[in-house]
Amino acid sequence: MLWKGLSRLVYGQNEFVALPPCAALRRPSPPLFVTGPSKTAPKKGGLDGVVAAQTRLSHVDGQAGQLIIGGYELKELAGRVSFEEAAHLLWRGALPSQDELAGLQREIAALRALPDEAMHVVRAAATTPPIDALRMACATLSLDLPRPDDISPGADIQAAKLLTARFPTVVAAHARLSAGKEPIAPRTDLPLAANFLYMVHGKEPDPIAARAIDTYWVTVIDHGMNASTFTARVIASTRSDMVSAVTGAIGALKGPLHGGAPGPVLDMLKDIKSADRAEPWVRNELAAGRRIMGFGHRVYKVRDPRADVLSKVADAMGAAGGALENRKLFDLARAAEQTILKVLDEVKPGRNLRTNVEFFTALVLQALGLEPRSFVATFACGRVAGWCAHVIEQHAEDHLIRPQSEYVGPRNLKVEGRS
Ligand code: ACO
Repeated sequence: MLWKGLSRLVYGQNEFVALPPCAALRRPSPPLFVTGPSKTAPKKGGLDGVVAAQTRLSHVDGQAGQLIIGGYELKELAGRVSFEEAAHLLWRGALPSQDELAGLQREIAALRALPDEAMHVVRAAATTPPIDALRMACATLSLDLPRPDDISPGADIQAAKLLTARFPTVVAAHARLSAGKEPIAPRTDLPLAANFLYMVHGKEPDPIAARAIDTYWVTVIDHGMNASTFTARVIASTRSDMVSAVTGAIGALKGPLHGGAPGPVLDMLKDIKSADRAEPWVRNELAAGRRIMGFGHRVYKVRDPRADVLSKVADAMGAAGGALENRKLFDLARAAEQTILKVLDEVKPGRNLRTNVEFFTALVLQALGLEPRSFVATFACGRVAGWCAHVIEQHAEDHLIRPQSEYVGPRNLKVEGRS
């Protein structure tokens, strides 16, 4: 099933899905970008405030602190549906029936193992950052598609399943190789998230840990028109293929302004050491003009709803009797969070700097035994399903994304001294 109300169109060899002619889906005409007062006025802020696409996939309401995924609020989905179910929701427009879910789980399980070419690249990239290894390995995955340039809905869904199935295998294999260990072959009898931890640690995770990584991936599966999603859509809008679009998206996610700050959050907590040191520590950082990692967001002006979900995941892991070291870190994080919010409100009044997703991501991922250097790549294992859904949607839209620039360089220069 595709999204209800979509119809198929054929252009040359490619089959597309046409959006229905309802007002909610009509593209602003022209141009695709809807800007404020002037359509052509240059904006310094890198498309800040510009609506770049219409989507049924997710919506971020920064004032209400709400994230809607495929029609459901995040708090409705997280912890209640599996990552595979959430992927189906984005790719097909509805949560799966039991039969559909069983079919999707079987297909994804069968696709997990890496072909030799991809494993060769992961081995060659063992000393590079995990997100770079993932980008390189991702690019090889089109070798395994029957027609890599096919962007019909059927081919897109197939590529989406392949990429989503294999990202965790790449990240787990890289984690082991970079630690001087041999990769562990995926199992087909575990859900995608549990199998990821199995491949990293070599033993089946306990149910709390398996649920934690699954809930984390559902929580980050899609998030409006963020930079990597936009990148994927721009590439797809040229009628380029799914693997190319997702490879580009990884490149965008890698940048420190997007890939986030969960590693530095851990460094910060280690530096703070004890709850009573939090206040002088944060005052000192702010006085030095530094930012507090895990706080503030471009869109959310209230608490990031993903932080709420992951805070509960962290609680569950602590309550379940996790390692004493982790429980101490969770307690310190809770106390430090309250102090940091109080001091930020005082020192940066009116900026509404609240806890963002990265604060609790750091706690959850390190409690799962993952290395901070692999946090961004682990994030990509969840976000890939959202990127793929946006590529499917963009291929259906079939409209080239091509904004304009304002030329500010010189004019009428003459070539001197050459014949
Ligand atoms: N700590 C201290 N001050 C901050 C912080 C922070 N974390 N975030 C913003 N501010 C201050 C700025 O210094 C600025 O103050 P000023 O008005 O006195 O100059 C004001 O708040 C506005 O800052 P902007 O940079 O305009 O806010 P923007 O919306 O562009 O920033 C960002 C968003 C980049 C996330 C920022 O809040 C930040 O750097 N946070 C820390 C890093 C972090 O946690 N990143 C992960 C974000 S979640 C994600 O990407 C998945």
